[in-house]
Amino acid sequence: MRRRSIIGALDLTKEEYEELFSVSDEFKRRGFSQSYSYLEGKVVSLAFFEPSTRTRMSFETAALKLGAKVIGFSGEEGISVAKGENLADTIRMLSSYSDLIVMRHKFDGAARFATEVTDTLIINGGDGKHEHPTQAMVDLYAVREVFSSPSNLVYGILGDLKYARTVNSLLRALTLFQPKFVYLISPPQLRARREILDTLNYPYKEVQDINEVISELDVLYVTRIQKERFADEMEYEKVRESYELTYETVTQMKRDAIILHPLPRVTEIDRRIDKTPHARYFMQANLAVYLRMGLLYLLLGEKK
Ligand code: NCD
Repeated sequence: MRRRSIIGALDLTKEEYEELFSVSDEFKRRGFSQSYSYLEGKVVSLAFFEPSTRTRMSFETAALKLGAKVIGFSGEEGISVAKGENLADTIRMLSSYSDLIVMRHKFDGAARFATEVTDTLIINGGDGKHEHPTQAMVDLYAVREVFSSPSNLVYGILGDLKYARTVNSLLRALTLFQPKFVYLISPPQLRARREILDTLNYPYKEVQDINEVISELDVLYVTRIQKERFADEMEYEKVRESYELTYETVTQMKRDAIILHPLPRVTEIDRRIDKTPHARYFMQANLAVYLRMGLLYLLLGEKK
């Protein structure tokens, strides 16, 4: 894989996704207890201007397992942004301390902007409602784990398709994998944005009621309402709890169908679903460490 910043899900080719999955498989096969020195002497910065649990901690774990040192921050309170420092200056500073920066920021385009002020590698850990490419990599990796390939399956994407950046990245990444069909399931106010729909090269349909399509799906991907992205509290109030995956709906799924969720979840999945064999969101979260090890290794590792 060529060394470069990863800003969007289409920054990797299909071949590079395959390469990433097979390297990640190797780390998975050797197990969590193993550690490596591929990134010895490297410093990975985690610049999380916005909250994160899984993305930040799985990148940190991955970097440590590969032998890197990790520095960084979480939230703007403890850093000079609180004193008015602008994003460009913060990024310039960090890049003089690090070999690679994983960043998350509330502004769409923040990660792309960072690549304009530094030559240090940037990985986008989520920028506003725009993209979250490494989550899409994790999502496809989880699908592949169960079905051996993300291709040729029927997907249902349920939830906040307007603001969820994980959905944007997943829909874009799927353009490389020829899904059989994709149902975009949401209340009318939360439909996917035109600029995303215009890039899709596979058959899809927008629907409102999951019960119409549930029995056709191989993969159901659920997201929470992205409360923090709503410009208007009233707009949020109108749609909160406008969809929920119920236990009864899940009983209509194909026997081998799976449910994924990037997490965190709020109220959109009935907790009783966790015990069904369809629920794979915790497996998906566990795979993230191996996938992110694979990615850091390919982007930064001394091959030895
Ligand atoms: C997602 C995000 O930050 O976009 N979280 C994650 O990285 N798994 C999803 C979300 O916040 O809903």
